[in-house]
Amino acid sequence: MALLASSSVVAPRAAELEPIVPGRDYHTLANTDEFRLRHLKLELQVLFEPRILSGIADLTLERLQPTARQVRLDTRDLTIRHVWWVGNTGELVALPFQKGAYDRTLGTPLEIDLPAGLNAAEFKLRVSYQTRPDASGLQWVPAAQTAGKTDPYLYSQSQAINARSWVPLQDSPQVRFTYEATIHVPVGLRAVMSAANNPQLAPDGVYHFDMPQAIPSYLLALGVGKLEFQAIGPRTGVYAEPPVLAAAAAEFADVEKMLETSEQLFGAYRWGRYDLLILPPSFPFGGMENPRLSFITPTVIAGDRSLVALIAHELAHSWSGNLVTNSTWRDLWLNEGVTVFLERRILQALYGQRRHDMEDALGLQDLRTDIADLPPADTVLAIDLRGRNPDDVFSDVPYEKGRLFLGWLESRFGRAEFDAFLRGYFDHFAFQSISTEQFRAWLEQNLIAERPGVVSAAEIDAWLYRPGLPPSAVLPHSTAFAAVDRARHEWLAGKRSAASLPGKEWTTNEWLHFLNHFPQRTVRTRLSELDDAFGLTTTGNNEIAHSWLRIAIRNEYTPAYERLASYLETIGRRKLIKPLYEDLMKTPAGAARAAAIYARARGNYHPIAVATLDRIVYGRKDAQVTR
Ligand code: BES
Ligand code: ZN
Repeated sequence: MALLASSSVVAPRAAELEPIVPGRDYHTLANTDEFRLRHLKLELQVLFEPRILSGIADLTLERLQPTARQVRLDTRDLTIRHVWWVGNTGELVALPFQKGAYDRTLGTPLEIDLPAGLNAAEFKLRVSYQTRPDASGLQWVPAAQTAGKTDPYLYSQSQAINARSWVPLQDSPQVRFTYEATIHVPVGLRAVMSAANNPQLAPDGVYHFDMPQAIPSYLLALGVGKLEFQAIGPRTGVYAEPPVLAAAAAEFADVEKMLETSEQLFGAYRWGRYDLLILPPSFPFGGMENPRLSFITPTVIAGDRSLVALIAHELAHSWSGNLVTNSTWRDLWLNEGVTVFLERRILQALYGQRRHDMEDALGLQDLRTDIADLPPADTVLAIDLRGRNPDDVFSDVPYEKGRLFLGWLESRFGRAEFDAFLRGYFDHFAFQSISTEQFRAWLEQNLIAERPGVVSAAEIDAWLYRPGLPPSAVLPHSTAFAAVDRARHEWLAGKRSAASLPGKEWTTNEWLHFLNHFPQRTVRTRLSELDDAFGLTTTGNNEIAHSWLRIAIRNEYTPAYERLASYLETIGRRKLIKPLYEDLMKTPAGAARAAAIYARARGNYHPIAVATLDRIVYGRKDAQVTR
């Protein structure tokens, strides 16, 4: 997952900047110290033809600074029509506003001047606005790229800093607000949000939402399409297009059990329902933990439930991330690393040690690749992202290094003690946003101080502030993979035939390990022998296909080229397509093929994926998510 590992935008060197102020959000232009968004009320029309959301946002703001006279909101590429102050009886007073200086990473602040007499501790502003067709946080998917092919699909992806491209607000993970929304969609389509969803279809195309739990803006989410609902358990279910609904419900049948297991491990689930929304294959991520409704790539519907770690992951964010939130993107490891730790605990409880160990070992392999490819400064948990878009610096470091940090603490203090610590942590910081330093202080007071000498401050600081992996890390190991390594070795050495490999018994994880450790070059006849025995080119498992296609590219195994093209033209999940384009770009013939495929596929990809791939295929170092 070393996205943009080697070719990321030029970052200002940390040494040239001021020291980082922990907890200060460098990715907002809003004046969150002077005013705080407390409640958001949206009324939006979803216009598929011009690809525009149009309507109003009512923002209830708390005044923190009695003398402040200007509210600054985050926007990116929004067209602002009017701004009003909304009086207690609903009267509207037009307010002067202007756009501040545009920043290519952060967007454009909307500056609203308040009337001199407006000193209330809480007040309401109304912004009338519309989005642009190329909004970085929205993807307008044409009917042809959906499962049903009959209706278009719209979905949002707000994390990390894209909520500002579809709602004017304080786009910072340390600002939490409740929200309600009225969404108008074409009759026959359904709107869903990261809020209370009504499984009934609205005959007039008007949907109302209420989100009583306060969330940060990156968890604001909307999906619109030809969607139906199928229940899985009492608190769980799936929204999907009719052609994928049954397959999705079967694939994710364990989600209710996952929810119960998570509650036993980490404490009560505080969000009411937990549903899944299946997105079109162009979704640039595997999943997104939008509260009450995780957004999920269809590429994990493998038919055998082998890729459901993703669901455990997004569900686990209901504790780490959605309940206790990173206060800035520098602290992303508090979301992702803690979540991977919880995810693996869920897998272990539900599917056993062997499965757990394999997932863990694969995670470590990905981490090692990233540590080898990334500049050392970007392998630090508390990463310096100033001047960069967090989306462009996405890697496995916050995930797997964060997971190893917690695993190391657990190994020192013991599972029972560490579990108790984690539960206390979720309770104490519930519905708050915290920095790495707040985590560190809490750890110090609630775990380390009680058992002096078990870990040292220097060890903790090495984990948080130093590159690479500390020598004391407890590294995962899978005995299942040792057997796979032996089989690969014997086959490559000509000691056994492909047909004699135990591939039919291998799980997805064993296959991934088998394929991910091929030598740089493999004789093509051996590849076709393997392909004949196991049908790798035509596998319906997109992760296995990804690993196989990488081998095919390296060895110019032409029978897989057609699949490669159709794979890249239908799937937009960045983790699965980025390495394929990178591999293709390594030879002139591959680069030509990449350019031809990309010319056809680019229009199907999400703006986030386009930003990454433009750099790889067109070599545009300056490409940004925004234009
Ligand atoms: N919250 C992330 C996705 C994300 C992170 C989007 C940072 C934008 C910025 C989500 O929970 C996630 O981690 N998805 C992974 C899933 C995997 C680790 C199981 C993905 O999409 O690959
Ligand atoms: Zn995550």
